[in-house]
Amino acid sequence: MTESKVETVLITGANGGVGRLMRPRLAREGRILRLLDVVRPDPAAEGEAVELIEASVTDEAAMREACAGVDAIIHLGGISVEAPWSDILSVNIDGTRVVLEAARDAGVARVVLASSNHAVGFYDLDDAPADGLPADVLPRPDTYYGVSKVAMEGLGSLFHDRYGIDVTAVRIGSCFEKPWDRRSLWTWMSPDDGARLLEACLATPEPGFRMVWGISRNTRNWWSMEAGEAIGYHPQDDSEAFAAELLGDAVDDGPQGPEERLAGGKFCSTPLGEHQK
Ligand SMILES: NC(=O)c1ccc[n+]([C@@H]2O[C@H](COP(=O)([O-])OP(=O)(O)OC[C@H]3O[C@@H](n4cnc5c(N)ncnc54)[C@H](O)[C@@H]3O)[C@@H](O)[C@H]2O)c1
Repeated sequence: MTESKVETVLITGANGGVGRLMRPRLAREGRILRLLDVVRPDPAAEGEAVELIEASVTDEAAMREACAGVDAIIHLGGISVEAPWSDILSVNIDGTRVVLEAARDAGVARVVLASSNHAVGFYDLDDAPADGLPADVLPRPDTYYGVSKVAMEGLGSLFHDRYGIDVTAVRIGSCFEKPWDRRSLWTWMSPDDGARLLEACLATPEPGFRMVWGISRNTRNWWSMEAGEAIGYHPQDDSEAFAAELLGDAVDDGPQGPEERLAGGKFCSTPLGEHQK
């Protein structure tokens, strides 16, 4: 990007939890954030360079319009928990196809896809080599939701190979203000690290398709940081800062049972296709 050029980044699902955490953190001089969601995002704060679009990622015409003049897309929009297959199919799988087709038609060079640990939820921590479970390990989805993230990754790979779009699929752990239980002590990605990771994705020098874990530099990590580091993602936060507050004086006897040992946690036993929230 030259100094005078304004960069426009389209964020789908901008009104969701991750979108709201990223909105202030991705704001930059010379950058416009175009915020799209089915629920209209909050109006611009004073001095904020944002554009607001109320639309669904499944709406082909709206997505074509939303992609006009866009340099990069961060695709967060969709269903973020288990849900009936027909909803998952339409919003998460077909919606991702619509986003990528609109990106191609508009000549958008870069797309970041919000994949998930639930694409690989059935890996047990004993499956991880000493240097951590690789970010591109084969899928083992734990729900229909997880299957949609595998499809998202496949679509990202397809649109890179066919059309040369730079695509990074981020297998996000848990991006929230704070970790809240023992499992989240290794799945956590701090909001600041989330923004660091997205900036790294937006700055990859060579077009490619890659998968990275979306986690912080947690003491308890068992997922490899290598692929993230290769694109310049150097997380700075560690959930261990919250461990004493979360675990109290209880003896910390390590991960117990499938909910703590499996990458996908309780999603691995949630009834398939039932609304989770
Ligand atoms: N939060 C995490 O830790 C986490 C972990 C793994 C993956 N992810 C993925 O990251 C993305 C963002 O997660 P989140 O926690 O912010 O989820 P969220 O549910 O809080 O937000 C999702 C947003 O997408 C919007 N949306 C739903 N359907 C849409 C549609 N058809 N068109 C446009 N927008 C639509 C919703 O209105 C909502 O604002 C999701 O794709 C989720 O699967 C998040």
